Amino acid sequence: MNLVTRKELREKINRIPQVNLGHFPTPLEDCPRLSEALGGPRILMKREDCSGLAFGGNKVRQLTFTIGEAVHQGADTIVHGAASQSNHCRQAAAAAARLGLKCYLRLSRDKKSIVQGNLLLDYIAGAQIELVDPPLGPELDAIKYALAEELKAEGLKPYVIAAPRSTALATVAFAWCITEIHEQQESMGIEADWMYAGSAGGTQAGLILGSKALGMKLKPVGIAPIYWDDRVERVRIAANDAAEILKLDLQIADDEVENTDAYVGEAYGVVTPECIAALKLVAQTEGIFLDPSYTSKAFAGLIDHIRQGRISSDETVIFLHTGGTPALFAYNEEF
Ligand SMILES: Cc1ncc(COP(=O)(O)O)c(C=O)c1O
Repeated sequence: MNLVTRKELREKINRIPQVNLGHFPTPLEDCPRLSEALGGPRILMKREDCSGLAFGGNKVRQLTFTIGEAVHQGADTIVHGAASQSNHCRQAAAAAARLGLKCYLRLSRDKKSIVQGNLLLDYIAGAQIELVDPPLGPELDAIKYALAEELKAEGLKPYVIAAPRSTALATVAFAWCITEIHEQQESMGIEADWMYAGSAGGTQAGLILGSKALGMKLKPVGIAPIYWDDRVERVRIAANDAAEILKLDLQIADDEVENTDAYVGEAYGVVTPECIAALKLVAQTEGIFLDPSYTSKAFAGLIDHIRQGRISSDETVIFLHTGGTPALFAYNEEF
């Protein structure tokens, strides 16, 4: 049973402030050689890696709303920060450049703080960058907010990209992505059984919220890229925050969030033998490149679920390619 129609959901999403940053809708493509190599289930990829701006990725859709909100509030400066190879920061730097905003990035100094991949692109896009030593999470957020205060004192109007607001708006973004998939499935005459994504945040929350609102058959499975004990709670909260933003009369409960951290391996951003194999398989059957931290681990999870028989050969799976490919260039040694 659908709670709203696709048109109604889109109208609700269109009421949220946004800026036009990407190439949407992104393609939904069949991967026949990959399906064959994995013994059957029909696999399609939703190509968020082809979202247009700065080598694409899922954050372009999210920034449509976070930077949309910044512009709506009259901001002239974007403040963001994350891991040194952050895809989100690279896309934020590019979005800011495109809209004529200043961009300040505070990036966590880590093993991949080399001027390659995303960090290289951050510099080229003209972001003002500082590498900082505390770990990720609340300490980095505190640095971002302190910087915003300094910038305000200098007369700038900064907008800080940080959870929980940015996660709730990412959820809105991926409810929008679901409306595209709904329409694409209709025109292809298919109804997928499963949807896999490398996420423990707004991306998965949006897939859950959107598919529930539209009464879709597909079950969104999240493969976490990081060890977070509260990941189910995070996804549930993001989904419910976004339901409120969109004025959708529905709630998501913990048992509607299927998310596993079984494919993280040693740590976030450290490759596993299975993710290297998954990345090479997809490249060598379909000519599509996954990334080392998110999509390759998610695809390794999908392969394992197929091998365990959780997904049968007559079912259909949509894999959300969330991008992240520029980070590959910082992983030359691992590959
Ligand atoms: C390539 C890629 N995939 C997936 C994700 C996870 O997105 P979310 O935090 O919305 O779950 C990220 C986040 O940085 C990403 O860069």
